[in-house]
Amino acid sequence: MKSQPQWSNRSVFLLAAVGSAVGLGNIWKFPYIVGENGGGAFILVYLFCIALVGIPVLIAEILIGKTAQANPVSAFENLAGKFKASRFWVIFGFIGIITGFLILSFYSVVAGWALEYLAVFLQNDLAGAAPEQVKNHFADLLKSPSQLLFWHSIFMLLTILIVAKGVNQGIEKVISLAMPALFLILIILVIYASQQAGFSEALAYLFTPDFSLISTETTLIALGHAFFTLSLGMGAMMVYGSYLSKNTAVVRLSLSIALIDTLVALLAGLAIFPLIFTYGLEPSSGPSLLFISLPNALLALPFGQFFGIAFFLLLLIAALSSAISILEPVVRFVEQKTQLTRRISAWLMGIIIWLIGISALLAFNEWAEVKLFGRNIFDSLDFLTTNILLPLGGLGISLFATWVLASKSNILSSLGIGNLAYKIWYWLAAIVAPAVILMIAWNGLFIS
Ligand code: TRP
Repeated sequence: MKSQPQWSNRSVFLLAAVGSAVGLGNIWKFPYIVGENGGGAFILVYLFCIALVGIPVLIAEILIGKTAQANPVSAFENLAGKFKASRFWVIFGFIGIITGFLILSFYSVVAGWALEYLAVFLQNDLAGAAPEQVKNHFADLLKSPSQLLFWHSIFMLLTILIVAKGVNQGIEKVISLAMPALFLILIILVIYASQQAGFSEALAYLFTPDFSLISTETTLIALGHAFFTLSLGMGAMMVYGSYLSKNTAVVRLSLSIALIDTLVALLAGLAIFPLIFTYGLEPSSGPSLLFISLPNALLALPFGQFFGIAFFLLLLIAALSSAISILEPVVRFVEQKTQLTRRISAWLMGIIIWLIGISALLAFNEWAEVKLFGRNIFDSLDFLTTNILLPLGGLGISLFATWVLASKSNILSSLGIGNLAYKIWYWLAAIVAPAVILMIAWNGLFIS
């Protein structure tokens, strides 16, 4: 048995978990789904989802990891054995590992776009470009398999190199530098945005809810996103939790992670929408908000190149600190279950994920016509993971933490909360979250 690594201290765990949570989901996806779903009202629903479902499941996931001190599969195996529960729970560990493969493969493709845009702004390639040219730049990138492959490969390479070095020498070191840089850049960008003419319009847009815009569909989108943004349901938080010492209390840490993640998403909105409004663009342009509308706004604003570099560096750091948390559970699983070293496991798993990623990037060009259930390969991967596998994993995690772990052992000190708070958590994680998750999965399968 290989030895179990430990975080050097609790703050490093907090930074790493925040690094996992804060990602493309916060900076790319959150602003555009807010834009597509009506602004303030959507944000309100999203905050409810974070509080009522996200946080209870996050606590459950970290708790299982910390108690088991092992990768997701072994965690379910060991705890189910110890508490004489059914072996069937192990399925949720396997689902997590498979989900990790699939998510990282397309996540890396999008992170590759961030790298490409960083290069473009560094070289000032788009200087003086007309809006139409900026639009074409993105379209051309998507049409070019070789360019997409190049940036996807670089991003996977960075991720593998960090994870291969291990928890203390790799992940911790990178996180300790990357996260402070991320916060600093984000604050600079919000200050810049607050100086633009569109700032008050953006504030009104983000914080004045129009309740007529809330529908079942927006609620389900908010829920799905709460899951994705907190990195729930595949064992990322579980593995990070497994590197905590057994006597760390998890509730306070979980609340901090959720709070910081939410703040970052809102700040990202505050950095992006003022520029969009100042330039008179539509907030509802969807996934291209960051890759067409934002560059267009930046090119028209003073110091646009500099702030463009800052924006895409921010996006890259956020994506990288999330990607390592998606690769880590997969690698830890292989490392613990086979004779392979961490280095070999990281390379082997990374290469398989890189290969799946190639099929995802071909969906934008050569294989655009290849459809699974009416979706191209990229959209299928996103749909299968975000709408089906993550909710399913989350369901298993919250049920296991409450019905098995909490009912058969005393976990109060592990959580570090009083009786009342415990009852609230238990009720939310055992009943409310599972019920709501079943609704998302139902929607994922039969409605969208
Ligand atoms: N939370 C990250 C984001 O918002 C993505 C992410 C990292 C993730 N690890 C995960 C999503 C595990 C689901 C599961 O971009």
